[in-house]
Order: sequence, then C-alpha cells, then structure tokens
Amino acid sequence: MRSKRKATRTEEYPESIRDAVKHYQSLGHAVPPPHLLKSPSQLEGMRASSRINIAVLDYVAKNIRPGISTAQIDRWVYQKTTDMGGLPAPLGYEGFPKSVCTSVNDVICHGIPSSKEILQEGDIINVDVSTIYKGYFSDSSRMFYIGSVPPEKEQLVRVAKECVTLGLEQVKPWRFLGDIGDAVSRHAASHGYSVVREIGGHGIGLSFHEDPWVGYVTHKGTGMLLVPGMTFTIEPMINMGRPGFRIDEANGWTVYTSDHKPSAQWEITVLVTEEGHEILTW
Ligand code: MF3
Ligand code: CO
Repeated sequence: MRSKRKATRTEEYPESIRDAVKHYQSLGHAVPPPHLLKSPSQLEGMRASSRINIAVLDYVAKNIRPGISTAQIDRWVYQKTTDMGGLPAPLGYEGFPKSVCTSVNDVICHGIPSSKEILQEGDIINVDVSTIYKGYFSDSSRMFYIGSVPPEKEQLVRVAKECVTLGLEQVKPWRFLGDIGDAVSRHAASHGYSVVREIGGHGIGLSFHEDPWVGYVTHKGTGMLLVPGMTFTIEPMINMGRPGFRIDEANGWTVYTSDHKPSAQWEITVLVTEEGHEILTW
C-alpha cells in the first residue's frame, strides 16, 4: 500500500464539511489538509494565548512615547508576557535575539530592538508581538504614532489598517485565500501605495508559522479554499513608495524599503468560522 500521508484522506475532515471540501477539491482548488483545521480545544488554547498577546500590545500602547528606546519596548513585552504565564515567540526564533520586532519608519518588518534607537517625535513604529501559551501561538502587530506625525505618514498608517479590515471582510468559508490579497492590493494601489510581495502572513496555532503562506498581491477566486477551523494571520506590509526592500546584511533580519520611504503594517490572527470569521488578536 502507498503511504497514507501521500493524499489527503477526506474522512479526516469533520463530517459537516467533508462533502464541500471534496467538491472544491474535485474542481481543482487547493484545500487545507485536515491537520490545519483547529479543534474546539485547540481554539480555546489559541484564544488564551491571544488574550495575552492583546494585553501585551495594550500595555505597549499605554506606555509608548517619545524619548524611550526600542529596547525598552522589548523589556515591556518580555515582562508582561511572562507575568501572564506566556513566552515571547520571537525570542530565539531562528536566532532572533529579542522578544519583539520593532520597525520604525522605513523599516518594513523584523526590526531588532536596541538601546541605541530612541523614538523621536514624528516617527511611526510597528510593534509586532507573538505569544506562546501552553504550546499555542498568537501573533499581532499595531502601528503607533510617536508624538505628532506628518499627515502623509498618518495616512499611510490609516490606509494600512484599512487594508487589513478590507482583507478581513473577505474571510468567509468557501471563498479563497486570494480574495484577501485582492482586496488589500486594490486598496493600497488606490492610494498610490505598494504592497510587499515576497513577505507575507501565515497559518498559526500549534506552531508559529504554519501553512498556508498568505500573500497580499493575489487575485480573487485563487489560492487555498477557506474552510472553517483555519487560523492564519493577515499582515500586509504597505509601502509609501516602491515595493522593493533590502535586508540588513549585518544582522540578517531588519527589512528596509529600498527607496527609504516609510512602510506600515498591522497584523491580526483570524479564525474561519461556519458563519464568517472570528478575530483572535488585534
Ligand atoms: N509577525 C512576524 C512574522 O510572522 C513576527 C516575526 S518574529 C521573528 O513573521 F522572530 F521572526 F522576527
Ligand atoms: Co506574523
């Protein structure tokens, strides 16, 4: 007998969705393998992790201000997460040296907190918090204004958030992953912004980065079928200028826009439900 793992055995899907999944698969659509669909108890674990994730970001929101270093944000995230019984997922992840990513102005993502980096009036910053609690992962990020910010940066941050909201509206069972990126990229383009193509979101839950990879420059009706029980992030990176980037050679992490113009990102973790979706983190 051939390996049982080779083909997805449709009897592994919950009975309520088995026929529908089979139907879309027969039409040639990519469907999520059954292990990506979370059980009710796994979802309880993810919700508990998400509560910590949200509390940590709320704490950052209350305390962030001009004059602090990004290393201070890192200390807050470590302290608050561990106080609540969690662990910061970035710490030691593939060698990442800190507990949180802090990405200022033209840093697109994966900025490394530093005591030498002091937040200045007029900066915009993405604080990306990822949490492990009892083995369950959650992931979200928000943008913050440092003091008063020039209107063109404010607009970038606002439109990046609208991109997430519009992407989220596409999350319904029996639609497609590509619908999200379609909505995101149209909205960004309508403001003359671009969307980073090569870096995207991801499935999440039992590990930090699960399948599927979630791009934000995609077309409606394409990509993996959305099925109740799927959990993934929506985290498009919106550049004021061109979509190109370069990665800091010295640390191997920090991603900068190649044209030095600002970039903004918000990230949520979302669950596909029978009715539509549930936001786990924002
Ligand atoms: N939300 C980011 C991601 O999913 C968090 C990266 S943490 C890092 O890629 F450790 F990988 F930098
Ligand atoms: Co993420």
